[in-house]
Amino acid sequence: MSSSNRTNIPNSLNEHWMPFTDNKSFKKNPRLITDAKGVYLTNHQGKKMIDASSGLFCNPLGHGRKEITEAVSKQLDKLDYCQPFNQGYGGSFELATRIAKKTPEGINRIFYTICGSTAVETAIKIAIAYHRARGDSKRFRFVGRERGYHGMNIGATTVGGMINNVKTFASVLMPGVQHIRHTHLPEHKFVKGQPDTGVEMAEDLERIAMNFGGENIAACIVEPIAGSTGTLVPPKGYLKRIREICDKHGILLIFDEVITGWGRTGSAFAAQEFGVTPDMITMAKATTNGVIPMGVVAVKEEMYDAVLDSAKNPEGTPELFHGYTYSGIPAAVAAGLAVQDIFDKEDIFNRAKEMSPYFQDGLHSLKDLKEVVSIRGYGMMGGVEMKMKDKPGKSGFQTFKHCYDAGVNFKNTGDTLIIAPQFICEKKHIDEIIEKLRTGISNYSKS
Ligand SMILES: Cc1ncc(COP(=O)(O)O)c(C=O)c1O
Repeated sequence: MSSSNRTNIPNSLNEHWMPFTDNKSFKKNPRLITDAKGVYLTNHQGKKMIDASSGLFCNPLGHGRKEITEAVSKQLDKLDYCQPFNQGYGGSFELATRIAKKTPEGINRIFYTICGSTAVETAIKIAIAYHRARGDSKRFRFVGRERGYHGMNIGATTVGGMINNVKTFASVLMPGVQHIRHTHLPEHKFVKGQPDTGVEMAEDLERIAMNFGGENIAACIVEPIAGSTGTLVPPKGYLKRIREICDKHGILLIFDEVITGWGRTGSAFAAQEFGVTPDMITMAKATTNGVIPMGVVAVKEEMYDAVLDSAKNPEGTPELFHGYTYSGIPAAVAAGLAVQDIFDKEDIFNRAKEMSPYFQDGLHSLKDLKEVVSIRGYGMMGGVEMKMKDKPGKSGFQTFKHCYDAGVNFKNTGDTLIIAPQFICEKKHIDEIIEKLRTGISNYSKS
């Protein structure tokens, strides 16, 4: 079928194997999105819904931003593709400079990837390459965290800690990976912002360093706020303590900011918001406002220097044998540059910061609803946890469907609803999200 003939409902739903989807039930009762503008989506039945999770945290600037689509289209007209290996084009350098201006000081070398998973995979490889460059090749171990999510490549899956993502693939995961415990503590129920308790959970890293030898560990990777597991906000002092333990043992610290990066916490990066500087930061999603895939690893300058300085290869040979065909392609870069312009012009991170208390108050106002067992949140992200029914995930998905019918769209993860409004939201949009969540959750409780 040519694109001009496409209808809202395709003739066949059979051939597309959908990712992270219950394909059987979806295909019986599809939910297709046909249009998106600002904070609203329209589905194939013509129903308008408010987008309460910025896509998958992708579109904080709202849907259909002309500045971005026009920049991409202009770029495609001029230069649609150029190989990124031993060649390049100006835009990717310009974007790297713009990104490096917003990352924490010293984390200013930018490696482009295709998505969040490939950013994490790349950070894992850069950690190994850096240690080898310093003559420290025995460091092969990595530490992740239970309930962490870092994407679905083998490396990213291994350091992740969401059980269902790991079970099927256990036989092919990376060796030498340990996990510190998560911070999903019972006393954090309905805590607004950073919990006062739980800093001692960071000591798990010390325990692993003791058991496996800190000198064998290449890096520890955590999401500053665990997003895909339902918004686990770090206890006060927790990230700082993780940093201290890493420093003690020479372990690199990677912050996976695929969700928290680009303003979600109210600062450009959670690293700045929480005052803890890692050695690498991974990002994706909002880097292009979600419109063209792009991932990024921001790396400490001294790590980049170490890898480059140690390379003794003949001219023309890469210092790091790693890269992707689509690393920093022109269309993605054009989107990224347009996004940076909007960040600056509209003072987006401050806008997110200013809206955060209003959003968090709204979210916590749902506390009285019968089936809600916890609410957590920070900045412009939050998780509403529903009481488990029969087995994990069932109540979350049923609630999602009731909310969808009530006109508010988001993603559930297990039994938690992921709520992450766009930064361009006005108070009336936050009100609409909360009101429709209330209706959807109440309808679920009655069902
Ligand atoms: C923290 C984090 N890291 C990595 C990823 C993987 O990103 P992608 O799906 O773009 O590969 C995600 C995706 O949600 C994420 O939340």
